[in-house]
Amino acid sequence: MILTPNAPAATHSPFHFRSARAHDGAALWRLVQASGTLELNSAYFYLLFATDFGQTCLVAEHGGQVAGAVIGYHPPQQPETAFVWQVGLLPEHRGQGLGPALLHAWLALPANQRCRWVTATVAPDNAASLALFQRLARELGVACQSEPLFTPDMFPHPHPAEPLLRIGPLDRTPP
Ligand SMILES: CC(C)(COP(=O)(O)OP(=O)(O)OC[C@H]1O[C@@H](n2cnc3c(N)ncnc32)[C@H](O)[C@@H]1OP(=O)(O)O)[C@@H](O)C(=O)NCCC(=O)NCCS
Repeated sequence: MILTPNAPAATHSPFHFRSARAHDGAALWRLVQASGTLELNSAYFYLLFATDFGQTCLVAEHGGQVAGAVIGYHPPQQPETAFVWQVGLLPEHRGQGLGPALLHAWLALPANQRCRWVTATVAPDNAASLALFQRLARELGVACQSEPLFTPDMFPHPHPAEPLLRIGPLDRTPP
């Protein structure tokens, strides 16, 4: 799938969107490291995710490099839910509408086509993340509701709460 985001400066070449494969693990780790705001987990974790959950992860390539990604999975007890664990873009590609385009392309992946709910946790100080998911809900014409999930006392170290955002229900009836 090749998509061009709504870039005000139309000088960017297209992005190529695809699901992830095992060999993307290292690139996902580098992307999260370069994002500056996402919590960096071990390289092993990204390798494992790309290997076992690659079908529910989206990679955005630009010039042959991984420039953005949505790392997600289906919670085992909620097969109609697609959870966004991390979404990020290299800094030079932000502010051009690509973040929402990434989420739409991720929802369109074959593995996600039956999902009627999108969930994610968003720390209260991450304004960009909150705005991104609220915009997704707006564009899909569905509600975006917040409920408690991970509270500070559940973490082994000082950490803000991570409430759950629930977006939906989506109408996934085939045309
Ligand atoms: C979050 C991210 C993917 C958004 O992608 P993007 O292409 O830059 O987003 P857009 O420019 O299309 O903006 C989408 C919405 O977010 C808002 N937004 C973007 N960056 C913002 C910021 N730093 N602070 C507040 N709002 C911001 C925009 O105003 C827009 O909201 P609107 O439609 O109500 O005007 C990108 O900023 C990013 O990679 N950030 C670092 C990683 C991160 O924090 N990920 C989210 C946590 S999982």
